[in-house]
Amino acid sequence: MIKKFSFGKVFPTEAVVKEIKAQKGNIPFFMQQNSDNKDGLLFTYTMEKEDKVYGLGEQIRGINKRGHLYISDCADDPVHSEEKNSLYGAHNFILVDGKERFLVFFDTPEKVIFDIGCTDIDVLSVETSKDVDCYIITGKKILDIVKEFRGLIGRSYIAPRWAFGYQQCRWSYMNEDEIREVVKNHRENNIPLDAVYMDIDYMDSYKDFTLNEEAFPKFDKFVEEMKKENIRLVPIIDAGVKIEKGYDVYEEGLEKGYFCNDKTGKPFVGAVWPGKVHFPDFLNKDARDWFGKKYKFLLDKGIEGFWNDMNEPAIFYSEDGINDAIEYVESLKGQNIDIYTFFAMKDKVLGVANSPKDYASFYHNTEEGVICHDKLHNLYGYNMTRAAGEAFEEMVPDKRILMFSRASYIGSHRNGGIWQGDNMSWWSHLLLTVKMLPSLNMCGFLYTGSDLGGFGAHATEDLVMRWIEFAIFTPLMRNHAALGTRKQEVYQFKNIEDFKNLIGIRYGLISYIYSEYMKSVLNDEMYAKPLAFVYENDVHAKEVEDQLIIGDSIMIAPIYTQNTKGRYVYLPEDMMAVKMRSLTEYDCKVLKKGHHYVDAELNELIFFIRPNHIVPMTYGGESTEEVDYTTLKVFGFVKKEAGYTLYTDDGISKNYQDKENYIDMKADKDGNVTVSNDRIKIKESVILNK
Ligand code: GLC
Repeated sequence: MIKKFSFGKVFPTEAVVKEIKAQKGNIPFFMQQNSDNKDGLLFTYTMEKEDKVYGLGEQIRGINKRGHLYISDCADDPVHSEEKNSLYGAHNFILVDGKERFLVFFDTPEKVIFDIGCTDIDVLSVETSKDVDCYIITGKKILDIVKEFRGLIGRSYIAPRWAFGYQQCRWSYMNEDEIREVVKNHRENNIPLDAVYMDIDYMDSYKDFTLNEEAFPKFDKFVEEMKKENIRLVPIIDAGVKIEKGYDVYEEGLEKGYFCNDKTGKPFVGAVWPGKVHFPDFLNKDARDWFGKKYKFLLDKGIEGFWNDMNEPAIFYSEDGINDAIEYVESLKGQNIDIYTFFAMKDKVLGVANSPKDYASFYHNTEEGVICHDKLHNLYGYNMTRAAGEAFEEMVPDKRILMFSRASYIGSHRNGGIWQGDNMSWWSHLLLTVKMLPSLNMCGFLYTGSDLGGFGAHATEDLVMRWIEFAIFTPLMRNHAALGTRKQEVYQFKNIEDFKNLIGIRYGLISYIYSEYMKSVLNDEMYAKPLAFVYENDVHAKEVEDQLIIGDSIMIAPIYTQNTKGRYVYLPEDMMAVKMRSLTEYDCKVLKKGHHYVDAELNELIFFIRPNHIVPMTYGGESTEEVDYTTLKVFGFVKKEAGYTLYTDDGISKNYQDKENYIDMKADKDGNVTVSNDRIKIKESVILNK
């Protein structure tokens, strides 16, 4: 059941797609009161010892969020360490599971502070501005509550099937030949690959919707050449538009008044990759339409996917900010600087980037009037994604275009996915992405994944391999690394054959992963679930934060520690343990409910199949185009009988509701598998029954 409580007058975020009438009074469970700061509201809830608090989407720390202070405030912060409070997305919802079970979504574009047992171990407090719509959802089961929430915020974005293949990125492949080299190395080593990303250097001087003609002289031909290799190119689009006379996007934006202005009414100037830029006013419908149509420049050249970046927005510095810092540093010249002054100077210089002062000094021209950016900050990336998503609907209505963003707010999940931003090549960040996945799924971000292998810092071979073993199960499976870091394409390492085999397993699992993703999107369900959501009455399952249920049939237990040859796994029921080295080399055995130590060498993927469940697999391929989706091999643990609904379509058009897309499969304990449609052939089955 959903109830809405409104406080003040909220800017219409359009996060919610259902019309719900607001009720009067305080929100149930919480005691609502004015905070000391009379501009805001403070909601408090006293937690029982056993209460768990889930949610917050893209955030650091655990699946259970107790014990920290989190701030919903889209932030460009690449160091995702434990003490941080904000990442790139603002997903202001929590689900309390305990003596009471409820989800609250605090819908406001302003900052929301969640103190979840940080100041007082038993107190959950949420601080918002005085204008907020609170949606409260109650229900019997956690998954029912999440489903109702997902219905409230609308259907998640659907990516094309090719975007479920393995993808390679680096900041940057500088020209056509460097990209050809990447593709050649994958193809020569038979490492499957579906896409190569084009980071900022493909542009002319980092100008959106331009090409560096020297590096990419015949771009449309090159796109075509890559497509013949079954490779899609995915260019980056940044939020800031370079200030440069004669540059059409700049000139047009200026003329039409589509950039955010400062308080004097002149376009606000910030600096990002191209140097000085203006920021498109994505909160203005006309500006949004205008920017969205600009993607046509690349669509017309055969491009079918994009990633939107720097859209918190990241601001390296503003003119005022940098001048202020320079003046301060200059004022210290020649002095014997004491330690406090030294730190103040350091803070001053580092503080020029993404400064709250800058966010408070430009404005959006919205349908609700002219509003300062700091009041709408969390909606900026959302509306950049929306600009693209809505324009794609108009320009290529029958075709899915890949779109994912860095910054996000609930609502942008309808127009694109997100990647989890600039992580590090750290083992702790491999675990972090495992924990973030279900929280993101709760608020509709299903097409997601982290930079596999880690973005910043140098990756080692074992980290990349273990990360791949997890990323096999994430819809977005993209290897990405930062400028200046060790090369991280899998062929750069020693055990290329192992990488080839592991990535090959993704292509075997692709019909299952795609099917589960599509069903989850179409039914407003979670693709990746914590054990606590599936085995609600199992006291051990409730504590497990490093295993996930993927779709309906599979449980994963990723290995995220260096120098280990296995890990402890908790099985909430008997399961079939699958240890795979390649699509043709594997061992399967049934393990009893309980705690186990499961061995897995570096090149061995482990996953588990739930009882009376099956997993349809393909015979693989070196690209998603090559995979034969009609000839399957079925893995399963069938004590009695197992049913499975396979969702399959052409992967690119939008006839999601077509009955033909759903194929029923049945397996018995003797390994016989039947299907409802003879389009699908079962060639083999690997079924255990006890
Ligand atoms: C940002 C992005 C990263 C990209 C880099 C250069 O840091 O998050 O993915 O590689 O900018 O464009």
